[in-house]
Amino acid sequence: MKKTDDQILVIFGASGDLTERKLIPAVFDLYCGGFLPEHFAVTGVSRSEYSDEAYRQKVVFENEFILKKEAGEDKLKAFADAIFYQPLDTKNTDSYNTLKQRLQTIDEAKGISGNYIFYLATPPSLYETIAEGLSHVGLNKAENAWRRLIIEKPFGYDLESAKQLNSKLLACFNEEQLYRIDHYLGKETVQNMFVTRFANSIFEPLWNRNYIHRVEITAAESVGLEKRGGYYDSAGALRDMVQNHLFQLVALVAMEPPVKADAESIRNEKMKVFQSLRPYTKEDIITNVIRGQYLGSKVRGEDLPGYREEEGVKEGSKTETYVAMKFFIDNWRWGGVPFYIRTGKRLPTRVTEVVIHFKPNHHHLFAHDKSLSNAHNTLVIRIQPNEGILLKFDMKIPGAGFRTETVNMDFHYDELTDVYVPGAYERLILDCMQGDATLYSRGDSTESAWQFVDTILKAWEEDDIPVYGYPAGTWGPEHADNLIEGENMTWRYPCKNLTDDGNYCEL
Ligand code: BG6
Repeated sequence: MKKTDDQILVIFGASGDLTERKLIPAVFDLYCGGFLPEHFAVTGVSRSEYSDEAYRQKVVFENEFILKKEAGEDKLKAFADAIFYQPLDTKNTDSYNTLKQRLQTIDEAKGISGNYIFYLATPPSLYETIAEGLSHVGLNKAENAWRRLIIEKPFGYDLESAKQLNSKLLACFNEEQLYRIDHYLGKETVQNMFVTRFANSIFEPLWNRNYIHRVEITAAESVGLEKRGGYYDSAGALRDMVQNHLFQLVALVAMEPPVKADAESIRNEKMKVFQSLRPYTKEDIITNVIRGQYLGSKVRGEDLPGYREEEGVKEGSKTETYVAMKFFIDNWRWGGVPFYIRTGKRLPTRVTEVVIHFKPNHHHLFAHDKSLSNAHNTLVIRIQPNEGILLKFDMKIPGAGFRTETVNMDFHYDELTDVYVPGAYERLILDCMQGDATLYSRGDSTESAWQFVDTILKAWEEDDIPVYGYPAGTWGPEHADNLIEGENMTWRYPCKNLTDDGNYCEL
């Protein structure tokens, strides 16, 4: 196992939701698993005034996401002892001097010797200010220690702002110090795609345009906005899910085998995928990108509000809560293979999966038989929930003749009962603590993904491309079905629509 140096994890945005729900619980899991170094501290930083004690109370002893782990009072107390709090006004440069002194005091008390991670879990508008503040007082570098900066998503609002953010951060830190987080890369099943492709000899020979008909990636959520209307209404599904999480999945499916399994080699190959995305014209966007917004409907007896009725959403908002698109990767491996991706809120279920549809046989040996399913073999990589892998292929139905049926070969992670599956944040924070950036996005590929998405955002701004309304609890606008060309071909629907009031419309 890699060595984890003694260090302080400094969390900006310490009084926020992300810190309480995800970050502190992830660090607690690392603590319980024995992954933290001997000399370690967390310092929460935000505008609010807390004493160390009050902050420990909030994020440990009264934190439902920690309490539900039922770790026991002793563990909680020992963990809480490593937690400190420092109020700070991010816009006041003097505050950073106070922070610097406070970190020195904690450092000396805990015997840490200067290694700090700064985790930016604040609103994105503060990222540049904090980086500049840290650099202003020299917290961005140290002589015999390292400094790292984790930046939460969203990384930029469009190509221009992402470039600007990159250049501002790079004026204060160097690229090796920057860890742009995408929590999808921390998911075990996402990493397993890399292993499935490159540890086995049976998939890679088939993983190209000669054998693959199309690739489909779905990230469906059944939840709505969950009180995030203010943020979401100015983001939308394209920025919130596609530019980052879905494109990271695309890169892992489509990348060439890296020379080595290290950060630079893997990130180089992912970058090449982004560079090979065929740019859209305005006409392509009209036919190949479908956007939708959920409408109110009744699901299992419950009246669900429409997007425009949600708190924090502007009246008459045209923000998309659903996107489906078809695009191509113009390189040797994927020439001519369509990629279909879709994501949406208030869909019938929560599921994220990658589906590889293989080409059918060239010669239909059993075609005389009406029962023939003429298998399009499919490999379903289930990212969540029911994490696992499913391969669909045809078998003979016992008895006379050659009647065939598609059967499933199934693997579920939860059958490995003795294996502990770490959460995404747990894995990513530990990687940063150990200086491993493999599962973080590099600046150039973040910009490349934005470049592709930016054309769509610009075309949508012109306001002549429809936003389709779909009833909450359905699989989104029916128009998305037309993206997939070919007889009897459609998206994979892991379950049915939950409501059949066909209240689809153009907004
Ligand atoms: C976040 C988005 O990055 O990912 C949310 O901002 C979304 O809108 C979430 O709900 C989905 O993550 P997961 O891990 O639940 O698939």
